[in-house]
Amino acid sequence: MKINLANIKKAKKLLNNSDCVAIPTETVYGLAGNAYSNRACKKIFKLKKRPKNNPLIVHYYNIQDLKRDCNFNNNFLKLYKKFCPGPITFVLNLNKNSKISKIATNNKKTLAVRFPKHPTTRNLLKKLKYPLAAPSANLSSKVSAVCSSDVKDDFGKKIRYILEGGKSSIGIESTIIDLTKKPKILRLGGLDILTIQRVLNKKIILRNSPSKISAPGQLRLHYSPGIPIRLNVKSSKIGEALLLLKKKKIIKSNYYFLSKKGDLKEAARNLYSTLRKIKKNKYKSIAVSKIPNTGLGKTINDRLIRASKF
Ligand code: TXA
Ligand code: MG
Repeated sequence: MKINLANIKKAKKLLNNSDCVAIPTETVYGLAGNAYSNRACKKIFKLKKRPKNNPLIVHYYNIQDLKRDCNFNNNFLKLYKKFCPGPITFVLNLNKNSKISKIATNNKKTLAVRFPKHPTTRNLLKKLKYPLAAPSANLSSKVSAVCSSDVKDDFGKKIRYILEGGKSSIGIESTIIDLTKKPKILRLGGLDILTIQRVLNKKIILRNSPSKISAPGQLRLHYSPGIPIRLNVKSSKIGEALLLLKKKKIIKSNYYFLSKKGDLKEAARNLYSTLRKIKKNKYKSIAVSKIPNTGLGKTINDRLIRASKF
């Protein structure tokens, strides 16, 4: 997709004025504001109806910009070199000079940071004098947005501007890794943890005990399309949509598949748009057939399990 400079200019003008703008990223769309501005960060929380204790991810153009706000270590450098810009978020310690709004961090001493790859948003970030706080551009606890019309469906006229960037190529949120202590995965995401493990050359801890959760956003029901979901089913009940990984030879009207041939990357890309489509088509519930728990299948299952806690 070609970069539209006039659109970027418009977004920049609003952001400079501490307004919120939806931005495209390769994972999902973000609801962005100046991360140094309390006013902008407050607006993000309000628009999203996000609990105040759930800190915001901050998006940077590159490592030079990050240096203003965060300290980092060797593990960070290794992963940054290999995967950035891309679908990985790092939790780092803030430094003394950091200008990040305390509203964004909820007064925490750590910051979740990401370097998005989407060319439109990279072009925008390069032009700004501040990084962008941007949680996913959906209402709190609901399915993330992977195109501009999803954002419009959730926020309508409440959002001043949506920077067009087409459909998100990865379609599922970034993988979050805490690097402030021993590397620990806080959220499965668009980057397979085995690839991360290979680069760090050690086994990484996977957060799984809910009592020790340090990403507050992971506590509640999340990623919900707003209707009940049953997992690992063999068949659907009357009135239910059936979500399948792979296209079947015989297709019924309530069948939705995530990939033609069962490719997990393609399935991750289509997951949220398919859940939104099923809801729009007025089904009262969703039955999901088993999805292999390998590679991005792990991330897909993580989201479906959270979405099923309806
Ligand atoms: O792919 C993504 O990461 C997208 C795009 C827009 O960049 N963003 C996204 O943001 O998914 P959000 O806010 O929906 O999810 C960020 C998660 C939340 O669960 C939040 O609790 C956690 O990151 N988080 C933020 N700051 C943190 C911190 N200092 N320590 C631990 N977790 C943190
Ligand atoms: Mg989110």
